[in-house]
Amino acid sequence: MSDEGKLRSVNRRQLIRAAGLAAGGLALGTSAGRAGPAQKPDPLITEVQDAARYLGDGVAAKPYGSPSKFEKHVIRRDVEWLTASRESSVNFTPLHELDGTITPSGLCFERHHSGVAEIEPDKHRLMINGLVDKPMVFTMSDLKRFPGRVNRAYFLECAANSGMEWRGAQLNGCQFTHGMVHNVVYTGIPLKTVLDEAGLKTNAKWLLVEGADAAAMTRSIPIEKALNDCLLVWGMNGEALRPEQGYPLRIVVPGWEGNMWVKWLRRIEAGDQPWQHREETSKYTDLLADGRSRRFTFIMDAKSVVTNPSPQAPLRFKGPNTLSGLAWSGRGTIKRVDVSLDGGRNWRSARIDGTPTPLSLTRFYVDFDWGGQELLVQSRAIDDTGYVQPTKSELRQVRGTNSIYHNNGIQTWLVKANGETENVEVS
Ligand code: MTE
Ligand code: CO
Repeated sequence: MSDEGKLRSVNRRQLIRAAGLAAGGLALGTSAGRAGPAQKPDPLITEVQDAARYLGDGVAAKPYGSPSKFEKHVIRRDVEWLTASRESSVNFTPLHELDGTITPSGLCFERHHSGVAEIEPDKHRLMINGLVDKPMVFTMSDLKRFPGRVNRAYFLECAANSGMEWRGAQLNGCQFTHGMVHNVVYTGIPLKTVLDEAGLKTNAKWLLVEGADAAAMTRSIPIEKALNDCLLVWGMNGEALRPEQGYPLRIVVPGWEGNMWVKWLRRIEAGDQPWQHREETSKYTDLLADGRSRRFTFIMDAKSVVTNPSPQAPLRFKGPNTLSGLAWSGRGTIKRVDVSLDGGRNWRSARIDGTPTPLSLTRFYVDFDWGGQELLVQSRAIDDTGYVQPTKSELRQVRGTNSIYHNNGIQTWLVKANGETENVEVS
């Protein structure tokens, strides 16, 4: 008998023994045990579920897999009153239900200005024009034949993430306060490779990137950034981009605000100055208290959030608990995350999981004992440039309260004695 076979037969015997016990205790233990937390299930009784009695679905019952039906609550959600139409709207990543650092494709928040464009890849073209030696048009197959293909994990954060919290705590859940972020492994080629093919003229200082959706989303990107680390991508998490994320082609602008990551990318124009389009003038600028505006605020500064506990994921047990959260920085790599359980009076360093990579989400944990007392949970990210995530009041001192974008202030969750958790602010 192979080792694996032995293992299986042992498990099967144990299962049968457990089944005998369960049959005896059925009336008292199993189904009654589910009624409420007051009735603790007998730890010696293992419920034998139908999976052990009947054959399951055969292979290819679902040619493309989906999550267990018991995970139906793990979904993107929106805030009904936030936007006037479904087409120009946003939904949010359920951060409190996720672990590790990679966002599953079907749970990546979506932000569209004119709905999801449906694009046939065979008919799709990318044009490069403007200040180039050779204006060019590429098919998707042309792009996939370029040398230098890479796979890279990067976070994308909408500049408006936490925007509803500028004037005070508002939304109850990290899904809503921080869920305009996702972290995906992209497959594609450096933008530089394609620009080199077209030949940038020496006075080319900016690029205009344009989407093929009804919004024709356009943004100006400085040439240094474009040549440094921007990617043209067709893949996410090992498969084709999802339609919501820009299928068949998107630009990746690592560490910079999500609005610049144009989806359904159809054109790149080289120019000698920025285009001053809507998305970089009336939108995505930050109105200061004195009436002036911060403009071209591309970089997403270091930020973090405790995802568990949080309002949608309250504390359920006294004793040992694992606090968990995410940190990221558009300037580089997360170096340290501090966590406070008393509203910022005392801090301890969280355990960083694995080796953080630049411009990508970093997972942190604190293993702690909860005695049932009230907690004011906070996290503070520090990146490898030495930048420290500010408190909300520090941020407001510099930026006022007119802003929508670039709110990276420290989040506070109040954990009450019964474990329920609320979005609050401490001054
Ligand atoms: N690209 C196009 N073509 N159309 C859009 O509406 N929205 C932008 C950006 N790229 C947008 C776009 C905004 S504001 C953000 S935050 C990100 O895409 C969202 O990317 P996601 O939908 O993959 O989360
Ligand atoms: Co956005």
